[in-house]
Amino acid sequence: MSDQMEQVLSEALEAIRSAETPDALNEVRIHFLGKKGSIQALMSLMKDLPKEEKPAFGQRVNTLKAEVSEKLEARREELSALAQTAKMANEKIDITLAGTKLEIGTTHPLIMIQNELEELFVGMGYKIAEGPEVEADYYNFELANIPQDHPARDMQDTFYIDPNTLLRTHTTAMQMRELEKAKGQLPIKLICPGKVYRRDDDDATHSHQFMQCEGLVVGEHITLADLKGTLEYMANAMFGEGRKVRFRPSYFPFTEPSVEVDVSCPFCNGKGCSVCKGSGWIEILGAGMVHPHVLEMNGFDSEKCSGFAFGVGLERVAMLKYGIDDIRNFYLNDLRFLKMFDRFD
Ligand code: DAH
Repeated sequence: MSDQMEQVLSEALEAIRSAETPDALNEVRIHFLGKKGSIQALMSLMKDLPKEEKPAFGQRVNTLKAEVSEKLEARREELSALAQTAKMANEKIDITLAGTKLEIGTTHPLIMIQNELEELFVGMGYKIAEGPEVEADYYNFELANIPQDHPARDMQDTFYIDPNTLLRTHTTAMQMRELEKAKGQLPIKLICPGKVYRRDDDDATHSHQFMQCEGLVVGEHITLADLKGTLEYMANAMFGEGRKVRFRPSYFPFTEPSVEVDVSCPFCNGKGCSVCKGSGWIEILGAGMVHPHVLEMNGFDSEKCSGFAFGVGLERVAMLKYGIDDIRNFYLNDLRFLKMFDRFD
């Protein structure tokens, strides 16, 4: 009998030692300690023993059971520690390795100019309008007083999508949409920044895609003086205090009178330098008083109200402000160029 017990014990210890996983160990537990296990089988032998031997036998089986349980528990802890160590080794991070550098983007210089203009004009009570880049001929030309066959259509070489649809050539299209939308209601005070497109050959000063910001104010007693004051305020904010603004007569079909607007050169303070080609002035935008016919076409009574409008090229402003000499830089996505602007942001 004792031999049988010794054998169960040594089999159990051997099985426990060689169990490599918690599942295997559990199998061992069931095999030896389960209801139908080997130790229970030893217990059932007790009933055939003489009465006086029963207590001692029972005690020895219990001791055996206790030892097997203890060894099982010890092995369980050992296996769990091994698993933990393996997991740690697997997840080990070499904190001395150089990290991956995260490239952080910078604001595009044109967006910086756009943000600046928006902040400036919102501060003066303007709202910001947005509109489609794929535009109807009607808004881009017709309502802007440029009917079919008007020679002014040649001023802007256009990408047509079909005879009535085009890529807007100027943000003035948005001016027309907003005038139409207002249905004669005053006042109107808005800017519209956005992309525009022209069939130009790209070179240092031309790009088939560029950005403009339109400005439009319509109300009672709006005059050219209001336009001049507004643009002077803008020039000072964009190019530094002390800028002067001058108007030169010009022609746009949607304004009367029309003006080209020059700013006193921020580089030489108007004395004359290579940037302003010695003149002391730099042309920055086109503007004028909204043509009475444009107001009438859009349902305004041009006897009772008037308005001014302007359209400024953002590339032009950015080029002057940051000393950029080639407009194509804005569209080449060269990181060396773009990264230069993080310090201005
Ligand atoms: N749309 C003109 C252009 O792209 C710029 C312009 C001139 C806009 C005069 C205006 C304006 O609103 O009044 O050349």
